[in-house]
Amino acid sequence: MNLTDVINKMSLRNKIEQLSQFRLTRDDFEEMKDKLKNECIGSFILADSATAGNAELKPLTREQINEIQKVAMENHGIPLLFGHDVIHGHKICMPIPLALSASFNPELVENSYKYIAEECRNDGINWSFAPMLDLCRDPRWGRIIECPGEDPYLGEKMAEAVVKGFQGDDDKINIAACAKHFVGYGTAEGGRDYHRGEISEYTLRNYYLRAFDSAVKNGVATVMNSFNEINGIPNVCNKHLLTDVLRGEMGFDGFVISDWAAIEQLTNNGIAEDKQKAAELCLDAGIDMDMVDCCYYDNLEKSVEEGKISIKTIDEAVMRILSVKEKMGLFENPYFETVEYSKEKHRQISKELATESIVLLKNNNNTLPLDKNQKICVMGQMANDKRAVLGSWSLDCDINETVTIYDGIKSRAENTFYFDCSIPKDRTLEDTYDTDVVIVVIGESDKITGEANSIASIELSDEHKHLIKCAKKLNKKVIGILSFGRPRAFESVIDDFDALLYAWHGGSQIGNAIGDILFGDSCPSGKLPITFPRMTGQIPIYYNCTATGKGVDGYYNKILSHPNYWDTESSPLFPFGFGLSYTQFEYGQINVQQSVISLEEIKEGKTFDLSINIKNTGDFSAKEVVQCYIKDCLASMVRPQRELKLFEKVMIQKDKSQTVTFRIGAEQLGFYNSQGKYIIEKGDFRVYIGSDCLANNYVTISIK
Ligand code: NOJ
Repeated sequence: MNLTDVINKMSLRNKIEQLSQFRLTRDDFEEMKDKLKNECIGSFILADSATAGNAELKPLTREQINEIQKVAMENHGIPLLFGHDVIHGHKICMPIPLALSASFNPELVENSYKYIAEECRNDGINWSFAPMLDLCRDPRWGRIIECPGEDPYLGEKMAEAVVKGFQGDDDKINIAACAKHFVGYGTAEGGRDYHRGEISEYTLRNYYLRAFDSAVKNGVATVMNSFNEINGIPNVCNKHLLTDVLRGEMGFDGFVISDWAAIEQLTNNGIAEDKQKAAELCLDAGIDMDMVDCCYYDNLEKSVEEGKISIKTIDEAVMRILSVKEKMGLFENPYFETVEYSKEKHRQISKELATESIVLLKNNNNTLPLDKNQKICVMGQMANDKRAVLGSWSLDCDINETVTIYDGIKSRAENTFYFDCSIPKDRTLEDTYDTDVVIVVIGESDKITGEANSIASIELSDEHKHLIKCAKKLNKKVIGILSFGRPRAFESVIDDFDALLYAWHGGSQIGNAIGDILFGDSCPSGKLPITFPRMTGQIPIYYNCTATGKGVDGYYNKILSHPNYWDTESSPLFPFGFGLSYTQFEYGQINVQQSVISLEEIKEGKTFDLSINIKNTGDFSAKEVVQCYIKDCLASMVRPQRELKLFEKVMIQKDKSQTVTFRIGAEQLGFYNSQGKYIIEKGDFRVYIGSDCLANNYVTISIK
């Protein structure tokens, strides 16, 4: 198809309509159908509110979507995109994205998004506003649930997985993915949603842009701006970022959509005097499609007439949108067919992901796994909650699919009962129930996570603490299951638990995943994708912070010349990458192929291998996430204490060992300097390999 011909035949009005997105719900279905008879709208968002993740939506049927597509095709021959926030599942819910990162299993994540894509197509969705790639270091921020965590490399891997999962491996894009929110949204000050951030060029390049770069390298079809401003410029009109960096440097060739009403919002923060000016600034900066606020739709014709926007700029944006539609094969086949998918397979992968994302934080004297014949007392409403465990952005998911934590336990261990903490008047707590072990399930509502749902303190609530106290009184071993959408601070109660599992908001199959882990049918293998602080006041605390001259790096050093705080330890409660197993892994020595290598060779693409043998010396066959970190010891800029460079999740049978090899080259050894240039410098590099970011097993490599 010659898209230039298509564009040449379009009127200016039609072109502007193509740059516009409208909302489409059951209520405005007929109105929109009528609109399409004359207008050449670019896309619809299947949502009726700006924070669609936490608002109920009565969905349209696939047949209705095909009907509306037909009107567009018959009147203009240009197919519509139907976008929706499909963040971590559509019908069967996967764990929240932060938990998906905890699985450290991008392959499984990619497969799950292939399944999610099947459910989407079956419901008339061909564009998903995911993956969300905002690196985040602040658990107060509600949207942390959607993000890949605090590490740029993990972010890169998750970006690749979700983009490939949605878009597929063929040349033809299956469901268009949308890398969002470009960029730095996770820096919202104080965790207050939509607030500003300050990001230096050095930090932007080395941390925040990287996941987006990966999405672009993997062919992401669309990008969405973030609401925030960085360094005084709102991202929605930041030409440097949207055009020079995203298109110019990264080579993005899809189109950019504004976030909901973000263009119009320029009139609120004193950047544009009116919506026309806002539209002009954003189109010029590189926003191709306007989400719902009609700033383009209502104003751009006038802007062209007044000579403020050129037809060329309009045509370029239209071309980018049509090119994506062409790559999706929509001109030939704009309609949706029934997709026969296996619900059972979707449940299975949801369970696998939930299982692999659960992190075992504590297991004194091998409290876990439990014996199925024991008497088990389960406490805490969260154990019976079908909604909260699905997490934010899951309102399309079928709540009847949720296997609660209680049901997951009860279906495996008959002698399980639920205790709600209210003791009959004539009895004491101790003799109320006769039990061998207590499982206390605490968590947070999905309603205090997600968009516009931040919290000021991440400490556990009084209710949580009361429940734990109650559980303690039974004088039996206490197992904690924490089901939250973000890291929470629980240092004050950690000694109350004999074993502790962090289960996140783990999706439809959380109950089965917990059940398998508790009774040893699965071995925990999740690792923290983000640092867990001891208390709110430590935020931000993250493992890849740059070194200080005074050496007050409390994350890594126990004894400091100047403690970071008088009122708490300097170290986190749990470090990045941490997670226990039921088995033990013995890491051998690191073998280096070559420990001195010339800078020229590295620049020319030479790589070297490091390998390590890991032995499973415990009683369970299990998966381990082998993590490789690098510390750049001497550089022209202050470098992070450590950076995750590579990881591999491997299954090691009990009594067996496995060798894991990591290949190091230019990609692992360089960094972006403050001019935004990727450089590799001479000097020593420590390469650590181990089971979390505190690994102390290392070799030194010299680049001469
Ligand atoms: C606003 C959110 O920031 C964005 O992530 C989402 O895709 C849009 N609303 C559409 O619902």
